[in-house]
Amino acid sequence: MNRTLVIVGASYAGVQLAASTRELGFDGRIVLLGDEPDAPYQRPPLSKGFLTGGFANERLPLRSQAFFDEGKIEWMPSTRVVRIDREHREIELHDGSRIAYHHLALTTGARVRKLDCPGATLAAVHYLRDLRDARRLAQTTHTARRAVVIGGGYIGLEVAASLRQQGLQVTVVETEPRLLARVASPWLSGFMLRAHTEHGVAFEFGRKVVALHDMDWSVSVELDDGMRLVCDLVVVGIGVVPNTELAADSGLKVAGGVIVDACARTSDPSIVAAGDCASFVPHWAPAGARACRIESVQNANDMARTAAATIVGRPQPYRALPWFWSDQYDLKLQMAGVNAGFTDYAICGSVEERRFSLFYFRDDELIAVDSVNRPQDHMFARKLLANGARVSPQAVRDPAFDLKTVASRDAPAPRGVAQ
Ligand code: APR
Repeated sequence: MNRTLVIVGASYAGVQLAASTRELGFDGRIVLLGDEPDAPYQRPPLSKGFLTGGFANERLPLRSQAFFDEGKIEWMPSTRVVRIDREHREIELHDGSRIAYHHLALTTGARVRKLDCPGATLAAVHYLRDLRDARRLAQTTHTARRAVVIGGGYIGLEVAASLRQQGLQVTVVETEPRLLARVASPWLSGFMLRAHTEHGVAFEFGRKVVALHDMDWSVSVELDDGMRLVCDLVVVGIGVVPNTELAADSGLKVAGGVIVDACARTSDPSIVAAGDCASFVPHWAPAGARACRIESVQNANDMARTAAATIVGRPQPYRALPWFWSDQYDLKLQMAGVNAGFTDYAICGSVEERRFSLFYFRDDELIAVDSVNRPQDHMFARKLLANGARVSPQAVRDPAFDLKTVASRDAPAPRGVAQ
């Protein structure tokens, strides 16, 4: 019998899931639908080269038309799913039509968290998540002179760097006492603060925005200490919230994300979920850890591969090593592993020359490596972490430390973590 896989959400996880199920031999119908009008595209450049003009638009699509044609993947743009009817195994679209499924995949991603204060809907306020946001923002940066960026996470910092590179004055407002507090170590936060300060970005830490005031040709951003920052453009990057409403309304288990097991199965065996919307207990988390979401391209792709294997009846627990990256000015940041709870760290390379790697240890176990302008280190670090190899902080601090040799030497002891 010809079976149907319906994938809701056509970004990284959705597209990879379609590709992987086909690669694994699924020969039924694959319907990939999403509410965006554009063919699935790369998101990371939107806050970087897309804004500065250094990224050619032709490179945006995630896959060519041939991918959809040859893989017989029915891509449906501008299509919104409004309901999952689990009893009849059907989804309902915004126009009232229905599609029956045997397997359903939720790759609905996340949406930006909106600013919630008076003036938050002024026309000068921008967010950056999808291509429409990026196009709208790119249109304004030529005429604006002063920008306030709200949020000092990766989106805020990448936007700050892009705007500085275009000559705008930039002030970043961050509620926490340091940058990247959710995801980076204090050491890396300090390094990034110095880099941005040297490029002329101003910072307001520990401050909340209480109101935005329209001043005809400009906007005044009022902070909780009474300070007012006058600008032409406000960009908000204060995090994302997962798109879980469809799942929750249909009675699937949801807690900060669509809850899935190690094989990407939701609480309904015919429905999988992957990517930013899915919450799970990672294999690398300490015992007793709660389910969490991982917002990254790597996670979307690798989790989609896991979900595809489940769909074709060959489930394999998700064991990929997490990795992330960010480009700001001439700094290429690459992070392998998760440094939460680290107890020691060691640096190799030259911080002065901005070419170094930071190794994080938890009770003598290497758990993560951040590399700045050392792409080779990042690749070897991924190998090292995936193999569960042993290396000490003292060894890293030794000027003779050679990561390539250590990573190769320890390669034959796999811990079952895919790279
Ligand atoms: N005012 C100022 N700062 C705020 C406010 C606020 N009202 N609310 C939150 N923040 C700060 C947080 O303290 C945090 O440092 O905004 C930052 C948001 O950082 P993230 O949660 O990492 O989110 P963001 O940078 O928006 O990135 C969203 O896109 O590129 C990906 O990896 C990124 O998955 C992440 C997503």
